[in-house]
Amino acid sequence: MSITKEAELIAMKKASEAVASTLKAMTAFAKPGMTTKELDEYGAKLLLKFGAKSAPYVTYDFPGWTCISVNNEFCHGIPSEHKILQEGDLINIDVSAELDGYFSDNGNSFVLGKDIHQHQPLIDASKAILHKAIHAIKGGVKISDIGNLIETEARKRGYKVIKNLTGHGVGRSLHEEPNEIANYRDKNNPARFRKNSVVAIETFITTNSTYAETTNDGWTMVGNKGGFMAQHEHTIVVTDGEPMILTGMNGIWN
Ligand code: CO
Ligand code: CO
Repeated sequence: MSITKEAELIAMKKASEAVASTLKAMTAFAKPGMTTKELDEYGAKLLLKFGAKSAPYVTYDFPGWTCISVNNEFCHGIPSEHKILQEGDLINIDVSAELDGYFSDNGNSFVLGKDIHQHQPLIDASKAILHKAIHAIKGGVKISDIGNLIETEARKRGYKVIKNLTGHGVGRSLHEEPNEIANYRDKNNPARFRKNSVVAIETFITTNSTYAETTNDGWTMVGNKGGFMAQHEHTIVVTDGEPMILTGMNGIWN
């Protein structure tokens, strides 16, 4: 969406506060021995307190409030009472929600407890790349140039990017124009970021894979060549200068 009046910005800030504080609290709440279902139920309670609804449930009938993906699962993991978190797991939580007709979206990959499987460098790379990408965005910048920045930064650090997962416009729905903010230079995309538009910028940084594939449960995605992926996501408003980071309070850069 494009912000045209103050009331829209206030509404987007409220929706963003709901998803960002929920993501932050879920990240802190995750513990070894907990199921992903318990973690999701905790997130659901927090979103409900804000009066927010799960965006993937509202939009796609996703079977959960939030997406929780563990280890080789890249994204869209279904919360499950059979999935028990363990020390050293690479966990991704993606929280998107609708509040009073406005949608916001954010995500965080992190290691649970001690980093016994050495996932931290991948996570640090993804966070740093998201920071660099977001701070390079302003009105008039080509979307494909940001994609190029993300892929170049990933390669510099010895990582790859996923080609078939993208950031996206957000606001009056979970996914809207611009539909594809790729993590590589998409030569077929001449579009530019527009001032006042609301977009979700997300990294998909990987150790091995360049495509994500849906598994038999119909939701969970894994890599075409396996390995691990880190994703970090913020919802922002594009301006003439520094973007306004609506989900900043999720604390993923702290
Ligand atoms: Co998301
Ligand atoms: Co998103």
